[in-house]
Amino acid sequence: MCGIAGFVGSEPAAPMVFKALTRLEYRGYDSAGLATISRGHLWHKKGVGKLPEVQAQLNLDKMPGTVGIGHVRWATHGAVTDANAHPHLDCRGRIAVVHNGIIENYQELRASLSPTHRFLSETDSEVIPHLIEAHMAQGMSLEDACYHTSRQLKGSYAFLAIAASEPDKIVACRQDSPLVVGHSQGRCFIASDVPSFLEHTNQVTYMEDGEMVVLVPGQATFYNGLKGDLREPLAKEVSQIDWTLEDISKQGYDYFMLKEIMEEPTTIRRALEQDRQLVMDAAMDILRARQVVITACGTSRYAALIGRYLFSKLAGKFCDVVMASEFQYFSDSVDKNTLVIAVSQSGETADVMEGVRRAKANEAQVLSIVNTQGSSVARASDRVIYLDCGPEMAVAATKSFVSQLAVFYLLAYAMRSRLDEGIAKLKAAAGAIERELKDNFKKVERLAEVTKDRADYYFIARGANFAIATEGALKLKEISYIHAEGMPAGELKHGTLSLIEDGTPVVVICPQDYTHAETLSNAMEARARGAYIIGVSDADHEAFHEWIRIPQTEEVFYPLVTVIPLQLLAYYLALARGLDPDHPRHLAKSVTVK
Ligand code: G6P
Repeated sequence: MCGIAGFVGSEPAAPMVFKALTRLEYRGYDSAGLATISRGHLWHKKGVGKLPEVQAQLNLDKMPGTVGIGHVRWATHGAVTDANAHPHLDCRGRIAVVHNGIIENYQELRASLSPTHRFLSETDSEVIPHLIEAHMAQGMSLEDACYHTSRQLKGSYAFLAIAASEPDKIVACRQDSPLVVGHSQGRCFIASDVPSFLEHTNQVTYMEDGEMVVLVPGQATFYNGLKGDLREPLAKEVSQIDWTLEDISKQGYDYFMLKEIMEEPTTIRRALEQDRQLVMDAAMDILRARQVVITACGTSRYAALIGRYLFSKLAGKFCDVVMASEFQYFSDSVDKNTLVIAVSQSGETADVMEGVRRAKANEAQVLSIVNTQGSSVARASDRVIYLDCGPEMAVAATKSFVSQLAVFYLLAYAMRSRLDEGIAKLKAAAGAIERELKDNFKKVERLAEVTKDRADYYFIARGANFAIATEGALKLKEISYIHAEGMPAGELKHGTLSLIEDGTPVVVICPQDYTHAETLSNAMEARARGAYIIGVSDADHEAFHEWIRIPQTEEVFYPLVTVIPLQLLAYYLALARGLDPDHPRHLAKSVTVK
């Protein structure tokens, strides 16, 4: 999946589109490109590398013209090469397209076009400009051609098209990949997300599946592509976004990831400002449902595992957690008596969205816990609880994870009709984190330096803390590229212990809770075999070579405080290994393909 952006107005488009792409880099950063139209000519430049590297070589922001489209790529079809970078053009170089998604029937479309069209890339996307070209050759306008093209495509797409013969116009179509239009006097913005153009406008319209929009300076006209009526524009709502520019800038930090970790006490508090009635209603839905299934991917799934534990421990309600990419294999068991809770920071993860679709198809109720306002998952749900933690720019999720936990705590307390107590306790936990957060910096940084050349890291814990061990391992893998595994502490001796060598780092998450004594025994077993034990606890112990101190809290809140040093450890290990923690290789923040 990739990030796309477009601008049409009366000032130069390239700097606008380039700036938007800098905000979309989290969606892909293996290559980048831009196309503009000036004086009846289509200009395009593209190349391999992160956006600043491509910019240094090609000066993307200096391209001429007042209409432009751009792309940052996360390769799916075709290697990372200049030819596979977007924009893609038609045979005559008069039409340019940027695309996010996967065209599933591209081989058959390409085969039918091949006799008369010249393809230059291995991508699925390149069929789009050629299909548009074929339709325009029959006398269609750009919008008619895009509409007919979108009807031929199977799969997921958000694409933007411009044509030299129709300057000052962008046509965009959406199916299963996000697109949002920004309105501003005399100009129009379009992108995969809102932060891309937030400094220019907070007035936005979200596009729905099957819709098409025609953008000219200052005017966006929407159509329902599926119904096929291009004479009847749709009346669409304009929403106001309350994110600020500060939310999407580093504010003096070297990297977004550290800024976002530092924001965690604040984001916990923000998550507590939920509408009470909404939380109570959602809690009642959970209690009433015959079965509750939580579905999510990656970090959000680890938050879901802790949510499951909280529902059971605090409110006696058992539920299941199903990995969103596996949800379809269980969806036959989901029916109208089921509540599906979809957890997703971005609200655009294709696997989660597919789960929501299947749940709705089986008449289940859907409650979503998301961060991004107006996202696809949010709009498809019966009820939405927003994390309200502000945009998360680093690829690795940090603040959104603790906000997800905060929402699960709220729901669990609300299920017991003790919401006020839950809020008060979470506020206290946020305060404790704030006080002790900075204490760990030096120690974790030093630890990263000492262990940066190790090939493997293990994280062990018991009970709800197990999900924190797996999240700690995921963070480490994502951004430091060190192999890491998180596992229940009791399982170590059933196989993985054979991998422990002299000095292998083993992070032992053992707050003073119901898991403390047994987890420490497992730490001792690992230590006896040469492991270098890093204890994350509110009490020191002889098993530890290094002790990372966490604040003391009530038992149930430990997951909220133990995860933060693990996020810091991953961050400092990435730095110690000379890596960019915000943009790990091969990954993207919002995975909009299945
Ligand atoms: C991607 C990201 C992960 C994230 C996961 C789920 O894989 O790289 O960091 O946890 O998607 O994202 P979501 O937006 O659905 O929470």
